[in-house]
Amino acid sequence: MPLTLAFARERADGECRTALVPETAKKFAALGARLRMEQSAGAQSHFLDSDYSSVDFVPGLPEAYAGAGLILRVAPPSLEEIAAMPEGSVLIGLLKPFESRERLAALNARRITAFPLELLPRISRAQSMDALSSQGACSGYQCGLIAAARCTKFFPMLTTAAGTIRPARVLVIGAGVAGLQAIATCKRLGAMVEAYDVRAAAREQIESLGAKFVDTGVSADGAGGYARELTAEEKAAQAEKLAKAVALADVVIATAAIPGKRAPVIITNDMVGRMKYGAIIVDMAAESGGNCALTQPGEHVVANDVNIHGPLNLPSRMPTHASELYAKNLFNFLSPWIKDGELAIDWADEVVAGTLLCRDGATVHAAVKQILGDA
Ligand code: NAI
Repeated sequence: MPLTLAFARERADGECRTALVPETAKKFAALGARLRMEQSAGAQSHFLDSDYSSVDFVPGLPEAYAGAGLILRVAPPSLEEIAAMPEGSVLIGLLKPFESRERLAALNARRITAFPLELLPRISRAQSMDALSSQGACSGYQCGLIAAARCTKFFPMLTTAAGTIRPARVLVIGAGVAGLQAIATCKRLGAMVEAYDVRAAAREQIESLGAKFVDTGVSADGAGGYARELTAEEKAAQAEKLAKAVALADVVIATAAIPGKRAPVIITNDMVGRMKYGAIIVDMAAESGGNCALTQPGEHVVANDVNIHGPLNLPSRMPTHASELYAKNLFNFLSPWIKDGELAIDWADEVVAGTLLCRDGATVHAAVKQILGDA
């Protein structure tokens, strides 16, 4: 019997993306896989059931998941959704692997083989599968747009009959995939952009986008191309230099993150207190605690006349393109392992082994095990 790939409507609050788009449905079908999707599962991303070919539509999630070998999702499943998955099935998605011991235990109890795409090794070969990058690009772009829409100033320089307007001053903290996209978006809108990151390689990337690098003298490259946590001395050195740039900014976009950890708190109460009246902070790190001490995830708070935005699930604000990119990441991750409609995973492959969270009832990913224990 050919492999069945199952897709249900995303039910997490505010989740508008979908894991299957019409283009990837055609490609999976061409590999001989059967596709089963809950009715209207693409509707929130503006894909109609009639846009898809080679897909069997079923009324609900239980019908979609029943007997499926592979379940593809965007957001992590609830415990009820896990209960509807066939024992021994394979699950792929943005599963927030470090977030919940209970969810991990439930996956293991059903002997689900889970691949959270957040764990994908950041190596050249895996770039086309890199959902953190594709969704990070959406988030960074959205941060730039939120900042421009909420700013009480023009972003570009303007010469008018009434006089010249100076461009808005934007500071981007954290120049990974999202931060670089935020820089590019703010530059395109004409702002004067400065940016900062602790990784040495970021300087060149920031400057190549035409932004100015803020040099705090702190460099903290960690394992796997990621940043490491700063020591107390490094944090103090960073804060001293960064406080000046924060005080001068009309807009601060903060995207700094450490995988598997709470986001570093970089913008302190004191720094907010010294910001310009009417300035804006868009804290993209809100989801993992926030880069600003005053950020409330999902909220807009005002302190000292500074507007602090903590938006959540930014890619869902542009679900059509976010889903297209994400669905292609899924296809690129999975397609090498579908042969003549059957799943034949090479468990020794570096990308497969690095992304694997749990299999046969046991957690295998070392970093997750270290943080959540043996769930
Ligand atoms: P991320 O979302 O984990 O973190 C965002 C940024 O915050 C990073 O640039 C990080 O250096 C920075 N950061 C962490 N602590 C900070 C602090 N205290 N102050 C200022 N900045 C801080 O990063 P993302 O975007 O997921 O990228 C992580 C790394 O992976 C980067 O080196 C990136 O170049 C690399 N990468 C490699 C790819 C590949 O070769 N396949 C694809 C995409 C990214």
